[in-house]
Order: sequence, then C-alpha cells, then structure tokens
Amino acid sequence: MADERGQGLGGLAFALAWVRDPRRVGAIAPASRALAQAIAREVARVGPELLLEIGAGTGAITQALADLGPPPDRFFVVERDPGLVRHLHHRFPRAEVLHACATGLEALPLPPAASLMLVSSLPLMSMPREEARRCVQSMLTLMERTPNARLLQYTYAARHVRPFDQLPPGWRWRRVTTVWANLPPATVWSLEPAAHPTQGIH
Ligand SMILES: C[S@@+](CC[C@H](N)C(=O)[O-])C[C@H]1O[C@@H](n2cnc3c(N)ncnc32)[C@H](O)[C@@H]1O
Repeated sequence: MADERGQGLGGLAFALAWVRDPRRVGAIAPASRALAQAIAREVARVGPELLLEIGAGTGAITQALADLGPPPDRFFVVERDPGLVRHLHHRFPRAEVLHACATGLEALPLPPAASLMLVSSLPLMSMPREEARRCVQSMLTLMERTPNARLLQYTYAARHVRPFDQLPPGWRWRRVTTVWANLPPATVWSLEPAAHPTQGIH
C-alpha cells in the first residue's frame, strides 16, 4: 500500500520533472517492475559492497535495489532534479539520497569499499551531448579508482547499440538482458573488466 502510494506520488514527480526538462528525464514513464527486477537480479548476482544509483528518478529501480537490503551506509542514490530528490528522500529513508549532478561523482562522500556497482538510468542519448560526455567521464573515473567496479546502464536503443563507446583499455560491455515489458523496451548492459569470466551475450 505504502509502495503504491510512493509510486503514485512518484508518477506526479516524474511528470513535473519531465515538464521542467524532458531531455534530461529522457523517458516517457518510470522504469517498469520487470526492468527494475532484472537490474536487481544482476546486482544480487554480483553482490557489490557499495551500491550507487545514478539518476534515480521516481525510485522504481531504487525500490528493487532497496529490497535487496543493502546497509544504509552502503546504498547511495544520486538525482539532479530537486522535486524528485524530495520524493526519494521521503520514499527511501534507509538510503543516502544525494542531490547532485552525475558530472561530479568523484566528489561524492562515498566510503571506501572492496567492490562497487553503479546503476545508471541516465538518459545518455537524449541529454545535452557535453553533459553526457562529462557524466560518462565521471563514472569511468570513479570506476577506475575503485577495485572491482562495474556499471549497469540501460538504454532504449536497438539491442546491439552499446550505451557509449571510447572505453578505457581493459573494459568491455556485456549485454545482460533485454526487457520487453517496459515502455519502451530496454536493454541492460554491464560495463566490466574485460578479463572477468561472465555469463551473457557479448
Ligand atoms: C530515465 S529517468 C529515470 C527513471 C528512473 N529509473 C525511474 O524509474 O523513475 C532519468 C533520470 O536521470 C536524472 N538525471 C538527468 N541528468 C542527470 C545528471 N546529470 N545527474 C543526475 N541525475 C540526472 C533525471 O532527472 C531523471 O530523473
């Protein structure tokens, strides 16, 4: 019940954020439960010590991640839109919700950890190109300075289109899954060390 109310208020906050800045919201609806669960399954499979969600929006994916039970001081959520940040604070008191821009992830007060998983909903293909470039650079910088780091990023593009190119040496994309029960259908990608033995489609 509380979750349904959270989703309803989230829908309103999402619509208002979309009106304020459609290119940065980048989607016509929050992530579906099927997409959120596909992402949470991959996070659970890897089991990172530190979890950082970027561009959390209404919290559809945040909810699935919170259901995995990460300790509050190991679960960070970043969002740029102030209305959505207020909503996330209210909905997820057991997460560290930060009002911040993903171009400055290196400056976040994250604790040291033996492994890190970034979960990004950033609309890299619709947001202003220079901002997307700086967000990618910031995610890669954080990943390169943290041991055992990975990034999960979903896209609405064709299934073979990777979220971004120009990877630093030693990294590669793995396609985790395509979720058809999402509006629009979404493909989840994992950026991980090339040497890592994994399952999935490359
Ligand atoms: C596709 S929507 C997120 C959808 C979310 N998964 C949900 O289900 O509600 C993308 C989100 O990224 C946020 N965003 C866009 N640019 C950002 C930036 N530079 N830093 C942080 N968040 C950003 C937007 O405000 C928006 O909430």
